Amino acid sequence: MDVIPLPRSAEAPGPSAVPLTARTTLWAAPGTEDTALWLRTALGAAYGLPLPPGTGDPDPAAVRLLLDDALEPEEYRLHADAATGVEIRGGGPAGVLWGAQTLRQLLGPDAFRRAPVRPDATPAVPSTRIEDAPRFRWRGLLLDVARHFMPKDGVLRVIDLMAAHKLNVLHLHLTDDQGWRVEIHRHPRLTEVGAWRPRTKLGHRASPLWDDRPHGGFYTQDDLREIVAYAAARHITVVPEIDIPGHSQAAIAAYPELGNTDVIDTAALGVWDTWGVNPNVLAPTERVLRFYEEVLEEVLDVFPAPFVHLGGDECPKEQWRASATAQARIRELGVGDEDGLQAWFTGHFARWLAERGRRLVGWDEILDGGRPLPDGAVVSSWRGFEGGIAAARAGHDVVLCPEQHVYLDHRQAPGAGEPVPIGYVRTVEDVHAFDPLPAELAAHRERVLGVQANLWTEVVEDGRRADYQLFPRLAAFAEVAWSAERGEFAGRLDAHLERLTALGVEYRPLTGPHPWQQRPGLPGRPLPHL
Ligand code: ACM
Repeated sequence: MDVIPLPRSAEAPGPSAVPLTARTTLWAAPGTEDTALWLRTALGAAYGLPLPPGTGDPDPAAVRLLLDDALEPEEYRLHADAATGVEIRGGGPAGVLWGAQTLRQLLGPDAFRRAPVRPDATPAVPSTRIEDAPRFRWRGLLLDVARHFMPKDGVLRVIDLMAAHKLNVLHLHLTDDQGWRVEIHRHPRLTEVGAWRPRTKLGHRASPLWDDRPHGGFYTQDDLREIVAYAAARHITVVPEIDIPGHSQAAIAAYPELGNTDVIDTAALGVWDTWGVNPNVLAPTERVLRFYEEVLEEVLDVFPAPFVHLGGDECPKEQWRASATAQARIRELGVGDEDGLQAWFTGHFARWLAERGRRLVGWDEILDGGRPLPDGAVVSSWRGFEGGIAAARAGHDVVLCPEQHVYLDHRQAPGAGEPVPIGYVRTVEDVHAFDPLPAELAAHRERVLGVQANLWTEVVEDGRRADYQLFPRLAAFAEVAWSAERGEFAGRLDAHLERLTALGVEYRPLTGPHPWQQRPGLPGRPLPHL
């Protein structure tokens, strides 16, 4: 049946398929209405079926959605048989939606189109019995909308693609040196100034080439509320990231007083137009703390997620070393050194968030310097597994997204044919083989919230290129995140590519890029195959 991610158990399809016709009803128990709406939208469009509400009486011409509190919230059972119809039971509303996603895959690629292409054919659900539940509760994808802005429609589309792969956390990287993408009413220059740059480095930072088109964009708070609600209807949590104290040049360009004004002329800084680790970091002042509290008040109002990511990665310390203000602060706070200053930033906002019922998530640099993390802080382990292991040992929850394995901006084949090849070679097979629980982490399994694939966008200039980097590897990643046993993949992937084609996803063909997906002449920075 070629389902991706692989279900925990599935009976081979039998002969007693369930046809879906104009008379087929869709009966939804209280609590399953979001999946009923999704099924009517998806299958209704693909097959031109009305799927009217049923009575709930045993009716073989029916799809029934039920809750079953004997199951875990994301667990589901799907039973299809001509005598009884299709029944999906979920432990909670999310489980029902994941069952419905499996149902769509069982119907075949036409179920992924937005209008009927074979009006005379009757779609049919093969008879089967599936029992399924996720391996990890955090099955994430990071979208970097700061380096290159992804307009709202693109984000909504990515959310649909995540749901089709049973992924459930969208980590939106909203701010960076190259752009600030979230409207903040109290500080309007963040987007008036910080969302735009006059030009962009083409290729890796060592490239001599520029794209002289101005670039930018931002989401209004209503855009973000729409994104959050659209994701919630698909049981996807949106975790916002506001990166501090590094990766802040766009904010400093908008409000120069946020930077280390006693070290450089921050008023001369613009939004950064090239790539790499940037020395222009936030000043460790009370004024900066208040500013970011005001930003975060608005962020919390838009994003109801229990987690808020505050970055913490790649914060060079040279300006703090050179700044009399920062050095006085180190002495006054008694934090020892510049790492202590960063720990002070992290600690302040971890407590500030905790007082508001939220948990801070940070990149694994928040462990650097060896100071204890505030209770409840979560670590995104990206430089490898070490940060995750250290955090778990210290009693912190972790999300595993090691760059050596699941950075989907990295090239997906060796050789010169990949567009702007950067990073490690991670083929679709490599991603599928990723083992997120080496022994040191398996020993702390209860601390591992889950796994996340990250799509940074320095060399991913638009949604078409994002498709290329994400697919088909995100399908392989989804199986890492969801399936306890992965099984044979290549054959199922062939079937899955037909679904992606029907959805209009511009994935990388397994044989290499289409001619128009290549970028000859744009320098990348390949790292050796692991
Ligand atoms: C990161 O890749 N700098 C988190």
